[in-house]
Amino acid sequence: MTEKPTYVISVANHKGGCGKTTTVVNLSAELAKMGLSVLVIDLDPQANASLHIGKKHPSEVTVTCAELLVSEVEKLPLAIHSNTNIEGVSLIYGSLALGKTEDELKDHAPRPSEELREKIKPLIGIYDVILLDCPPSLKLLTSNALAASTHFIVPVESGSQYGMYGVTDLMKLVEKIHRINPGLELIGALLIRHDERQTVCKLIEASAKEQIGKLIDVRIPTSTKVNQSAITQQSLHALDRTAKVSREFRHLAETIVKLLKIEIGNN
Ligand SMILES: Nc1ncnc2c1ncn2[C@@H]1O[C@H](COP(=O)(O)OP(=O)(O)OP(=O)(O)O)[C@@H](O)[C@H]1O
Ligand SMILES: [Mg+2]
Repeated sequence: MTEKPTYVISVANHKGGCGKTTTVVNLSAELAKMGLSVLVIDLDPQANASLHIGKKHPSEVTVTCAELLVSEVEKLPLAIHSNTNIEGVSLIYGSLALGKTEDELKDHAPRPSEELREKIKPLIGIYDVILLDCPPSLKLLTSNALAASTHFIVPVESGSQYGMYGVTDLMKLVEKIHRINPGLELIGALLIRHDERQTVCKLIEASAKEQIGKLIDVRIPTSTKVNQSAITQQSLHALDRTAKVSREFRHLAETIVKLLKIEIGNN
């Protein structure tokens, strides 16, 4: 029997606050609702995804992504937490220590961008989807995420005139990563806080298509429910599955399943 494929998807954009974590959390919840086994890996020292999904505070967790990255692969089972606030979603916590890890990777590893890929190899064939939440920087943690991924999504804050700032630097990093991970594929840019009536959103939509190359055919609207769901540590689906923003994240999951031809019902 052949191993089932595992889709490793980075959500990356070094622009702060563009919706990376919100996308990871709610996409993971919707994919799990569709019956897929999902693992979230939090690569951000801010650990926002862990604070949202995790049952524990990141400071109480012994093996977070920080320890995993600089240790032997034996630590992997200790790093995975299957009891989270979202059913069907497991978590490798992020923590403040990731800042230090990034420096250590630079000094010690022979191939500093490929540590995560090595560490998660045993999980390939186990999970259907692994989602990587990247920090707002283009340094080694994001390089590690992209080098370990089969695909990536670039969230873009559509409602901000600065939404596309610096995106060419991200695409340059992707070109570099292609040398060590030639299979890495762009799923597309994802417009966040989009309102088609606003001129700024239309302009950002056009420039995202031009500069990033592909748009995902889903528009995430602005909603106060996004903050509410983070504070109450639940997915938008659990908070209010009928809200427009929840429906759009569901649409995002369905779109990705279709685009990547992910098989449902293999578990
Ligand atoms: N569609 C939305 N509507 C309203 N608020 C949103 C929406 N998406 C994200 N936000 C809010 O914007 C802020 C930034 O979102 P988020 O944390 O997902 O971005 P990020 O890219 O992960 O940030 P960072 O770069 O700091 O990791 C959060 O307070 C979040 O609740
Ligand atoms: Mg974040």
